[in-house]
Amino acid sequence: MSNEKVPKPKSFLVTMLLLLVFMAHKGSSFGVNWGTMATHQLQPENVVQMLEDNGFKKLKLFEADEKILAALTGTQIEVMLAIPNFMLQEMSIDPVAAVSWVDANVTSYCYDGGVNIKYVAVGNEPYLKTYNGTYLRTTLPALKNIQEALNRAGFGSQVKATVPFNADIYFSPDSDPVPSTGDFRPEIKDNLIEIIQYLYTNEAPFTVNIYPFLSLYGNAYFPFEFAFFDGTSKPIRDGNLLYTNVFDANFDTLVWSLTKAGFPEMKIIVGEVGWPTDGVVNANVPNAKRFNQGMLKHALSGNGTPARKGMIDVYLFSLIDENAKSIAPGSFERHWGLFEFDGKPKYELDLSGSAQNKGLVAVEGVDYMLKRWCVLNPDAKDLYGLSSSIDYACSLSDCTALGYGSSCNNLSLEGNASYAFNMYYQVNDQKIWTCDFSGLAAETDEDPSVGDCQFPVMIAYAPSLLQNRGMLHMVMKIIGGCMLYWILL
Ligand SMILES: *[C@@H]1O[C@H](CO)[C@@H](O)[C@H](O)[C@H]1NC(C)=O
Ligand SMILES: *[C@@H]1O[C@H](CO)[C@@H](O)[C@H](O)[C@H]1NC(C)=O
Ligand SMILES: *[C@@H]1O[C@H](CO)[C@@H](O)[C@H](O)[C@H]1NC(C)=O
Ligand SMILES: *[C@@H]1O[C@H](CO)[C@@H](O)[C@H](O)[C@H]1NC(C)=O
Repeated sequence: MSNEKVPKPKSFLVTMLLLLVFMAHKGSSFGVNWGTMATHQLQPENVVQMLEDNGFKKLKLFEADEKILAALTGTQIEVMLAIPNFMLQEMSIDPVAAVSWVDANVTSYCYDGGVNIKYVAVGNEPYLKTYNGTYLRTTLPALKNIQEALNRAGFGSQVKATVPFNADIYFSPDSDPVPSTGDFRPEIKDNLIEIIQYLYTNEAPFTVNIYPFLSLYGNAYFPFEFAFFDGTSKPIRDGNLLYTNVFDANFDTLVWSLTKAGFPEMKIIVGEVGWPTDGVVNANVPNAKRFNQGMLKHALSGNGTPARKGMIDVYLFSLIDENAKSIAPGSFERHWGLFEFDGKPKYELDLSGSAQNKGLVAVEGVDYMLKRWCVLNPDAKDLYGLSSSIDYACSLSDCTALGYGSSCNNLSLEGNASYAFNMYYQVNDQKIWTCDFSGLAAETDEDPSVGDCQFPVMIAYAPSLLQNRGMLHMVMKIIGGCMLYWILL
């Protein structure tokens, strides 16, 4: 009855407008990688709430973490799930394993009001040079088995399997290092083209991780300004095209490699790109902010790269610092986060890409342990064994901030000892017996932090309290969901 009072065309228009607004919003979004190699995890519900508060729309995970997927349930956040490299062998030889993986980790979340899963990443940089071809024979069969399992489950058009590759799968010769001379590494080329053919036929994207920070880190002669997006006095000329930053040059080397392989239109996703804030020279907050803000602005501008116009689909690396990551590639590995280990933003970042100094919202509801630290015992007379104690403490915690060029590099030997003892004590949940070192260490209530060198207090778990908060969020979400429903009605 009330229908007669509301003229239909108008409500139709309103709905269309709303839809357009949503779509515009959706188009101009980028993603973020959420890795979980940390000794102490934030509660996934609190992190998901923070993602929503900040307006992150897309998320990439390194596995199908049950708790994270549970926390994402009921949100619109678009998710890329991953299958770790160690599972590729099994997935490649056993289609049944692929089917059970898809059943357990995709199908069970893909319902109305479940998790918005869009991609499955099969492996992580499986053709990395340092893996010596370990995954060369398993990646394509695993990719096929997973996509076929997705198809059989009825999600083939909605969920696409892809493979995130490191940018070291392609290169330009040193004799003429411009994008147009780019091609895939000869020893993997034939195999890669088969993968690309399969992805292309399946309308799945090609995924690549690009790290301008590593270009700078790995080469003392690399022109600093070329790592960022603010232009440079010495652009690289490639035919008619001019390159002012290494990201574009790297991306277009892939575009050329794909073009030569016969896939000039292949859709490309940048699965990881980012800048760390500590651990080595040039890994610091000003550089990270400059790079990530520039990256977002560039990606969302629609200008594209010299060889390919349009939005660039990027996933920033990464969301939160991970204090248990391997530092084999370098001490910066534990400091890629936009957020500290405790969910505090490290710097302002405008996620709309318009580069205003807009702050990020922190993770809320974080509980900390007592404001207590472990330092070098001021009463210790005999410092015998101090350096081996420091080494021991560091080997079982995280002392990457002590290194050359890092936030705590200028401490004295005593300061180094205190830093190491505290990190060991904090990752061991401030257990009193982890602050001893034969009398060399002692607890204190005074914060030993100096300047930029922070001595952290670890986060604590308070399951009952957090569960209550989770419930509250859930209720709010349901109310929020209904309100949106009413508005749309
Ligand atoms: C689902 O994914 C998780 C995390 O990667 C993994 O441990 C588990 O084995 C998967 N389930 C199946 C049935 O393969
Ligand atoms: C790759 O080969 C190098 C040199 O032969 C070796 O040192 C390294 O351990 C190998 N890595 C893997 C993952 O097999
Ligand atoms: C450490 O001290 C040196 C010399 O005083 C200074 O040049 C450098 O910037 C300092 N580094 C940090 C990370 O504070
Ligand atoms: C403190 O530790 C760092 C990292 O191991 C080292 O580079 C530095 O020289 C140490 N400082 C002193 C005064 O021993």
